[in-house]
Amino acid sequence: MNVLVIGMGYVGTTTGLVLCEQGHKVIGLDIDKNKINSLNEGKLYFYEKGLDELLITHLNRENISFTTESMDAIQGSDIIFICVGTPKNEDGKADLKYVREVAMLIGRYINNYKIIVIKSTVPVGTAETVTNIIMENNRDHIPFDVVSNPEFLREGNALSDAKNPDRIVIGSSNMEAAKMVSELFTNMTAPIVMTTSKTAELVKYASNSFLALKISFINELSTLCDRMNIDIDEISLGMGLDHRIGPYFLKAGLGYGGSCFPKDVDALITTSKDYGVNLSILEQVVSINESKPLYFIEKVARTLGELKNKRIAVLGLAFKSGTDDTRESPSLRIIEYLLNAQSIVRVHDPVVTSSMKEVEQFTNVIDTVREVDAVLICTDWEEYKQLDWNKVKEVVKQPFVFDGRNILNKDELKKVGIQYHGIGKP
Ligand code: UDX
Repeated sequence: MNVLVIGMGYVGTTTGLVLCEQGHKVIGLDIDKNKINSLNEGKLYFYEKGLDELLITHLNRENISFTTESMDAIQGSDIIFICVGTPKNEDGKADLKYVREVAMLIGRYINNYKIIVIKSTVPVGTAETVTNIIMENNRDHIPFDVVSNPEFLREGNALSDAKNPDRIVIGSSNMEAAKMVSELFTNMTAPIVMTTSKTAELVKYASNSFLALKISFINELSTLCDRMNIDIDEISLGMGLDHRIGPYFLKAGLGYGGSCFPKDVDALITTSKDYGVNLSILEQVVSINESKPLYFIEKVARTLGELKNKRIAVLGLAFKSGTDDTRESPSLRIIEYLLNAQSIVRVHDPVVTSSMKEVEQFTNVIDTVREVDAVLICTDWEEYKQLDWNKVKEVVKQPFVFDGRNILNKDELKKVGIQYHGIGKP
């Protein structure tokens, strides 16, 4: 099968390479020349473990190539995956401008029957919109079908999530086309949910919103744990062993960030309003999430007193470990609060280079924490779990560690004379 993947972001690049693994020939299309040149040279322009090796393997085997030429790419394909971005609009909804542009191009250049698969996270009804745009531009009335196949991969786990999904959701008004798409995934063992496009589209928003809800639930409970002197991680353990609840997404911290949860929860709230439904539970999820960085700063201020002129080390800029993505990263909000309070901010991240002029970035942790009044863990990087805390204690000015991700062992820190503050930790 000749597959075209449009949009070479995390989802598109991973989808293309996983389809190569399934034995298909893939072309990756993007309007960004730099991205395409970099991918053709075997270089990933973003950080995602394991994906770079797969890229080189499939380039060498000539299973994949990348281009900016849309006409040839569209005409040479049997199946087209739309993986372009759907950024947040001013009104909180997903902006479909890239999806519309791609649909227009497909309509203009379509030359024989094709299946168009929408993988981008799109509002309910987008499959219909895409169908209409293709039809309007498809002067020779060449037949085609549109199928919705939302992607559930996580940054930092993109490859394993895409290769071993929990489920595959395929929606279409034409079950024959849906079946053909399902056949692309025959080597995978995941259950396949065959449904309508609208349902498939809503499943994606519902899933991300529910996961965000779990996180906000545990984060709100962690505030209670702080007051009651109870360990939130033990609550998560005790709850998560119940199969009906499950252990995942119950890790308290600084709140969720990234390119998906904040955007998708907002989009579901605004879309629901269009249908006269107020999903107030999700409004609460957002407001709890937004309160977490300030809650953390207040904790720091309670110990340090005035934050003005205090030297603070912020460890971690990415919204979570395993990625160089800082979109909606709680760490950036924390830095903003610190700068507003006129603290002197020193930062470290194993993969992200900060573009902020007001902060000083270091390439190793010990230099970052030298002479600081407090160390703030803002991303759950493995490197921070493995730190030599004896060394840290020797170089800091004041031995205060604020663990915004609950990744450190309080007793170990206590042994070397460091005062530990976690989230919802006694
Ligand atoms: C998410 C969804 O998981 C994925 O299915 C979808 O396709 C895209 O959005 P991603 O944004 O890459 O993936 O990250 P994820 O691992 O889900 O984490 C999202 C945020 O929640 C991160 O900021 C993370 O730190 C936070 N989180 C996650 C918690 O605070 N606690 C948890 O227990 C889990």
